[in-house]
Formats: sequence, C-alpha cells, structure tokens
Amino acid sequence: MVVAKKYILKKQFSGFPKATDVQIVEEEIRPLNDGEFLAEAVYLSVDPYMRLFEQPIGQVLMGSQVAKIIESKLEGYPVGKYVVGHFGWRTHTISKELNIPNQILPNFANMPLSLALGALGLTGNTAYFGILEICKPQKGETVVISLAGGAVGSHAGQIAKILGCKVIGILGDDEKGKYITEELGFDHFINYKKSNLKEELKKLAPNGIDCYFDNVGGQMSNTVVSLMNRLGRSAVGGFISLYNTATSDAQRVPVLPLEDCIVLKQLRIEGFVIQTWYSRWNEAIEQNLKWIQEGKLKYRETIVEGFENVMDAFLDMLKGKTIGKTIVKI
Ligand SMILES: NC(=O)c1ccc[n+]([C@@H]2O[C@H](COP(=O)([O-])OP(=O)(O)OC[C@H]3O[C@@H](n4cnc5c(N)ncnc54)[C@H](OP(=O)(O)O)[C@@H]3O)[C@@H](O)[C@H]2O)c1
Repeated sequence: MVVAKKYILKKQFSGFPKATDVQIVEEEIRPLNDGEFLAEAVYLSVDPYMRLFEQPIGQVLMGSQVAKIIESKLEGYPVGKYVVGHFGWRTHTISKELNIPNQILPNFANMPLSLALGALGLTGNTAYFGILEICKPQKGETVVISLAGGAVGSHAGQIAKILGCKVIGILGDDEKGKYITEELGFDHFINYKKSNLKEELKKLAPNGIDCYFDNVGGQMSNTVVSLMNRLGRSAVGGFISLYNTATSDAQRVPVLPLEDCIVLKQLRIEGFVIQTWYSRWNEAIEQNLKWIQEGKLKYRETIVEGFENVMDAFLDMLKGKTIGKTIVKI
C-alpha cells in the first residue's frame, strides 16, 4: 500500500501567507482502475499564482510537478516515464490521460527534468508568449522587465536581448542584479528597494521605454508606464505587489495614468494568461530548448530539498529570497 503525503490548506491566506496556514497529512492510495496511472513526485514547483488564487480549505494546495510513473493501467503511460502534471503539493497521484500543459515530458536532450517546471514549462512559456506575442519588441527598442531576477522575468529579458533590444531589469536585490547583467546580458538593473525608480529609469532609458513586461502592478508599474513612448506596448502577466493585499486595501495604486499616457501616447496595455497559448505550448518549449542549446538563453534554479520544505520554499520565493525558478526536489 502506497501512502501519499499532501499539503492541505488549513486556513485561508490573509496578508502574507504563514507556514501555519497549511498542514501535511497522509492519504492511502487506492488500487488503480483501468485507464489510470500512479505517479510519484520528483520535483514540485512553487509559483506566485498559488497566493493569487483563493483555494478551498481542506483541499490539496495547487501546483505542478514532475513525477515518475510507478504503476500504470493506461496505454501510452508506461512505468518509468516522467510526466509534468498539475497534481498539487502531494507526493503520489493517481491520474488519467493528461492534456496540455500536462503531458509526458517532451525530449529535453539530457537537460534536467526540473526545467519542465521553469524554462521549458510554465514560466519559460509565459516569458516567450508575453514578449513575442504581446510586447513584440523591435531591434533597438528599450524594454523594461519587472521581477527581472525571477523565473519569468529573467527569461523574458533574455528573449528581448536575443531580439536585439536594450533591456533594463527591475528587481529587489543587488546579487540578482549582478546575475542578470553579468551572466544573462541585461544592459542594466535597478534595485527598486534602494533607488528612485523614476529617476533611474529616466537616466538609463533617456529615449523612453517602448516595451514593458509587467509582472508587478501597483506603484512600480504606474511609474514605468508614465515613461513609455508613443505606441508603446505593455504585457501585463502579473501584479505580485498586490497579491498579499485585500482587494479593498486603500494602498492599492491605480496602475494606469490614463489620460496623458495611454490615450495621448496610444499605448497598448494587454493583460494575458498563459492558458490562451496552450495550443502552441510545445512550440515555445522547442524554441526555448533550442536557445538554451545554442547558449543564447540561460537559466538558474533555486532547488530546495525535501517535501517538508515546500511551504518554506514558497514563502522564500514570495519574499524574494530565491533566484531564478524556485523548485523543490522531493
Ligand atoms: N499571466 C500568466 O499566465 C502567468 C504565468 C506565470 C507567472 N505569471 C506571473 O509572473 C510573475 C513572475 O512569476 P515567477 O514564477 O517568475 O516568480 P518569480 O519572479 O520567480 O518570484 C517572485 C519574485 O517577485 C518579487 N517580488 C515579490 N514581492 C514583490 C513586490 N511587492 N514588489 C516587487 N517585486 C516583488 C521577488 O523578487 P525581488 O527580489 O526582485 O523582490 C520574488 O522573487 C508573477 O507575477 C506571476 O503571477 C503569470
């Protein structure tokens, strides 16, 4: 008999999440029915959306994992294969046939399997479609990326560099800033915790900003948008600065300085969710893999060990203590 461990939500997150909001419980795994397989988690992903979406009390916390099939009664899903699945924070899962973005892992040509949760999965694909399909930067344009030391931002900025743009990353830590400029090729970084963002942007982007990959929202985005050029494009993929505040929080800042910027400069500000691009999911994975193999795209993972540390990894990622994609190795 296999006994799974899983995290359930004990108390709704309120403000910044607390370790005591979740609890690890055990569950006996029942025998498989025809058309099912049993997978054992190898890597779990922790992502900001787990804070954004309200989850039901008593249920397993949401999340994707790379898992190994250890028993199967489903044709095409043999024992020993690896899958990526939205199974939640749990060690063992019974599943039926998978649909994109869940699937048997594509061929990564000896790359680490954990990349299926990052550069060759959700975050890499978010960067790919956000930059290429919404920002559509042209060679020589100036692109600003928020959360630039994290999984999506560090990846998006490198794609903009591949396209020949000047890229400025905004982040909250000098070490991350060194990483994105010295190792990833960003032109500049701004530490939002230390700098006057508006003044720094004016200095580093004297000709204005053409594209903005916005993952932060709030005051920071208000500042960036106010410096955008005529016909600028902003891809709004997230608003992490507001995830831990109640909707009614008086501190919420209107992101869009409407009259003078959006209308007169004819800006295009477009929100997007990655679900829209599921029909092209593996196209992005193949292109990102090719760029990695060609040495044009780099990635970094912060890998935390142990199922009992998933919640700590999640909190550290939200606090900005991790760099690149945050993953837990089970
Ligand atoms: N639209 C979609 O379909 C989609 C899909 C995936 C992800 N996303 C969004 O993309 C964004 C990035 O996700 P990710 O997985 O790559 O996370 P990540 O950037 O790896 O990690 C989150 C980072 O956000 C920064 N941060 C936290 N609170 C902040 C605040 N109040 N102000 C400014 N920065 C803050 C921290 O870095 P610092 O050290 O820099 O503060 C932290 O490391 C999130 O907004 C997420 O919701 C959207």
